[in-house]
Amino acid sequence: MSELHALLTFPERPISQSYYVPKLQHFLKSGIPATYTLEQVAAFERESENRNGDNESRESKDDTKTSNTTPLHVLARSLPLDIKDEELQVVMNMMNILFEYGAGWNFIDYEDKTVGDLFLERNQTRESPLYNRLVEAGVSAELLLRKLNGCDVEFLDTTEPIGIGSEESVRVAPDGQKQEPVDSDDDDATAANQHVYLKTELEYKDDALITKENKDGVMMDWETKIMEIASETLFPDREARSATVLNIGFGMGIIDTFIQARKPYRHYICEAHPDVLAKMKTDGWYEKDNVVILEGRWQDTLNNLLDKGEVFFDGIYYDTFSEHYQDMLDLYDVIVGLIKPEGVFSFFNGLGADRSLCYDVYKKIVEIDVATYGMKCDYTRYSLDKQLPDWNDVKRSYFNCNYYYHPRITFA
Ligand SMILES: C[S@@+](CC[C@H](N)C(=O)[O-])C[C@H]1O[C@@H](n2cnc3c(N)ncnc32)[C@H](O)[C@@H]1O
Repeated sequence: MSELHALLTFPERPISQSYYVPKLQHFLKSGIPATYTLEQVAAFERESENRNGDNESRESKDDTKTSNTTPLHVLARSLPLDIKDEELQVVMNMMNILFEYGAGWNFIDYEDKTVGDLFLERNQTRESPLYNRLVEAGVSAELLLRKLNGCDVEFLDTTEPIGIGSEESVRVAPDGQKQEPVDSDDDDATAANQHVYLKTELEYKDDALITKENKDGVMMDWETKIMEIASETLFPDREARSATVLNIGFGMGIIDTFIQARKPYRHYICEAHPDVLAKMKTDGWYEKDNVVILEGRWQDTLNNLLDKGEVFFDGIYYDTFSEHYQDMLDLYDVIVGLIKPEGVFSFFNGLGADRSLCYDVYKKIVEIDVATYGMKCDYTRYSLDKQLPDWNDVKRSYFNCNYYYHPRITFA
């Protein structure tokens, strides 16, 4: 452990400004990176030992590249459980200094934990100032990254900072990745690339819709409660029978079944995948009097509606597959033109949901993004304790938090 790391284990109590802050500033000013990891310290020590002829240790430990235990992890892991308010303020100042010197918010440590996970383990809540400071750092970093890359944020692998665009989030991956043609033999292509996905054969199982070959979960019935809640959101203070609603992405038709149960005046469904459209035909959705099916990608069909200017919606729900946060940003442009002034927009919120810190960061990013359209996003938090599946039947889990932030977006 370096002296910097040792300082962050809080060897002295109480945690005082006069003891900790000058020492921390001294280490960082003298050139120790704020991202210096325990793994780098260990690698450095091994190298020195090897130089001194001790080859044994080199063979025994070659696992250090898979994790990044940063100074912030050490700080969070060492946070006293009986910390006093005055001490918390000093820790906050230390975090600010670490961020000033370039500390990352999104690394994962040797136990696969984020700094946020560690704060929560040390009795800090999601509402606590330290956790919120971390979320704030994540939001700033992601917005900056988006500006620098023109929304072309690359996928990051697990040896890198987790980044909000971790590959797991395949429903709407919050990475802003562009839809470049990719090799269809690539296992991950269906989840990451819309054009590949739309040519991929799908299979309906009792409890899921999956891609036939790769077993990617397109939709799973554990989300039924989420869909029920979402369908209620689409009928705000209004007689359901006079409402006109739009659902983008039919999947298993779960939300559409809830919508139909309320017998809306008009129920538009936009769906792009031929296998899903075929299932909708077989199941009689084309015959329903109040249903209008928009065949094709929303990017094409909704712009047609917008151009005609004939229909405006009381509620719009968005839940597609193999799209990215950049698509959602594009969708906001269309939504504001199609929704009534008192209408409600909602979406399946899996943004960053493979890591709870990322989920909290993206919760804020959506608020910021919709605000630029004069809209506000209110979240309701639901526990998912008993609902999450074991993920055995699909290739990867796309939702790992045991709670759900249901978004309800309206004009402010
Ligand atoms: C996760 S499922 C939707 C599940 C649905 N909410 C339910 O309750 O069953 C996603 C659906 O979006 C469709 N989809 C994907 N991209 C689309 C796009 N650009 N336009 C329209 N539909 C799309 C997929 O084919 C799939 O049927």
